[in-house]
Amino acid sequence: MASTPGGSGGIDALAVEARRFPPPAAFVREALVRDASLHEEGRRDPVAYWARHARELLDWSTPFTRTLEWEAPFARWFSDGRLNASYNCVDRHVLAGRGDRVAIHWEGEPGDVRTVTYAELHADVQRFANVLLRLGVRKGDRVNVYLPMIPEAVVAMLACARIGAAHSVVFGGFSAQALADRINDARAKVLVTADGGWRRGEVFPLKPQADVAVASTPTIEHVVVVRRGGNPVEMTPGRDVWWHEAMADAPAECPAEPMEAEHLLFLLYTSGTTGKPKGIMHTTGGYLAHVATTFRYVFDHHPDRDVYWCTADVGWVTGHSYIVYGPLANGATQVIYEGVPNHPGNDRLWSLVAKYGVTIFYTAPTAIRTFMKWGTQEPAKHDLSSLRLIGSVGEPINPEAWIWYHEHIGGGRCPVVDTWWQTETGGIMISPLPGATVTKPGSATHPVPGVGAEVVDESGTPVARGGGYLTLTTPWPGMLRGVWGDEQRYRDTYWSRFPGRYFAGDGAKLDDDGYLWLLGRVDDVMNVSGHRISTTEVESALVSHPAVAEAAVVGANDATTGQAIIAYVTLRGGQRVGEADLRAHVATEIGAIAKPKTIYFTPDLPKTRSGKIMRRLLRDVAEGRNLGDTTTLADASVVDELQRRAHETPAED
Ligand code: WT7
Repeated sequence: MASTPGGSGGIDALAVEARRFPPPAAFVREALVRDASLHEEGRRDPVAYWARHARELLDWSTPFTRTLEWEAPFARWFSDGRLNASYNCVDRHVLAGRGDRVAIHWEGEPGDVRTVTYAELHADVQRFANVLLRLGVRKGDRVNVYLPMIPEAVVAMLACARIGAAHSVVFGGFSAQALADRINDARAKVLVTADGGWRRGEVFPLKPQADVAVASTPTIEHVVVVRRGGNPVEMTPGRDVWWHEAMADAPAECPAEPMEAEHLLFLLYTSGTTGKPKGIMHTTGGYLAHVATTFRYVFDHHPDRDVYWCTADVGWVTGHSYIVYGPLANGATQVIYEGVPNHPGNDRLWSLVAKYGVTIFYTAPTAIRTFMKWGTQEPAKHDLSSLRLIGSVGEPINPEAWIWYHEHIGGGRCPVVDTWWQTETGGIMISPLPGATVTKPGSATHPVPGVGAEVVDESGTPVARGGGYLTLTTPWPGMLRGVWGDEQRYRDTYWSRFPGRYFAGDGAKLDDDGYLWLLGRVDDVMNVSGHRISTTEVESALVSHPAVAEAAVVGANDATTGQAIIAYVTLRGGQRVGEADLRAHVATEIGAIAKPKTIYFTPDLPKTRSGKIMRRLLRDVAEGRNLGDTTTLADASVVDELQRRAHETPAED
């Protein structure tokens, strides 16, 4: 769990970012929120704020009269109301005459396209709900989904919601073992998968992996297989069915069954390289209210004109909340792309922005830094003038990446929303509202309306400025309802470190203007000679050097200083810089105490398949430990190479 480095001053807030970006006048003119009124409403009465939005943005078959029941740490939201999530995401738009609106502009990696209207989505969701019913799935069951980024993933999730089965989506990059563990923990009845999907110009097989998994999952009764990759697969008679055959046989109509607001909508397992994965539980009414409201205001969504694109995979919470439920509840038109950003060229994403006239673009800092590495000529090849808002999620965005994103993708005219949240929070918690908030590059700014957040010190006392631990102070509708099958773990992980507060596991600081700066997980916070230094701030400093594309910093145990700063650095193409120069650069940017002890230059950083840098693993390398299971890595050879170098390079003293 959280490390508790010594020193009483909290995390030393070393970097100072002075640039300010007020919302551009042209943006404010059309924005849904232009002033502080929504924040004020949320502050006055957060419960009433959420009740209003749950009523205004969702359709209830039984309106709720109770908004919040809070017996810490267990919340029930809108508990006497009933609604159906798939009805809210699909049916009501069709019933309102918007069936012809495009829900999904889908683009396969090889360049094949599909356009799915709300009416077509409605038809597919109903049919697939009937397929699930015929396969014996009932309200209260779990269905596992292991698919590439194809429209069937959205259909499968909404079909589950329609009949009250909880989905448990497992990212297609996970191994058979990881899939089996998650299926067994959830005790899922049906698995929905595909033969394979396209990635980097090749078909990656899913069904063969699923077969290995299902060999050790006694609860799975049927496997539904979408044909996508065209790769050969074995079908087990009686167990396996083709999606297209089952759909052709299924009745066209399946009414959406009203669910209790607190009915389980889905499980989503948080990945980790050690320990048993946690099945995070999200329920129907509160989650949907949270993601619908935040989608609308954080992305300033105008359903008639916006084309939205979130580059996440549905296997992560970002895909659940801001590809499926948030956008569809708002009747959005969005782009979904199957493949990697550099196939066939490094400009694939920008060609899609131009092709579909994307207006709102949401991606991750790790992707942005990769785009930086590829160079400005790639976005410059395309007309990106349709964009009006760009967002970031997943890790702290360093100011240099923020500025690059703002200039080279946003054309200097788009507000940037840096959105902090977690699998556990369900939806966005800390973010600018783009028409109302003056942004600072690298700061997620303030809690969104209706959310309470405070930075506290070791003892749980709120700090007015400076560093500490990020906590959430009031229940919010999208909050996790628990860890599947492990109530104690829910209490221990989130509610025991600071009594009465939700502990997010992140370090944060409040600057003199009350802006929040996320500093990464607290176990990524280093303690060097009694100074607490955030890995993020050192990384930011390294990345601000013109030769550096990407950097990861870890604190490695050190007999003299407690921890020593070890940096792994990837240079931009064709650039060179010496270790001494980079150390001096960090000293200039932050101060001598933040100078890395050792810098390893590496062509690539080890990342999870979701793109997070594996700092724990880098710490193991830095401390000379034997590495355990590295199968969740996108490219395990990166680590072998780093280990080889670590043995060769004597640490500096
Ligand atoms: C952790 C949650 C939220 C969806 C994707 C990740 C980090 C997330 C930010 C941000 C700084 C961020 C935090 C958080 N994180 N967004 N804007 N700024 N850090 O979901 O896998 O549950 O990870 O991601 O450390 O705790 P997740």
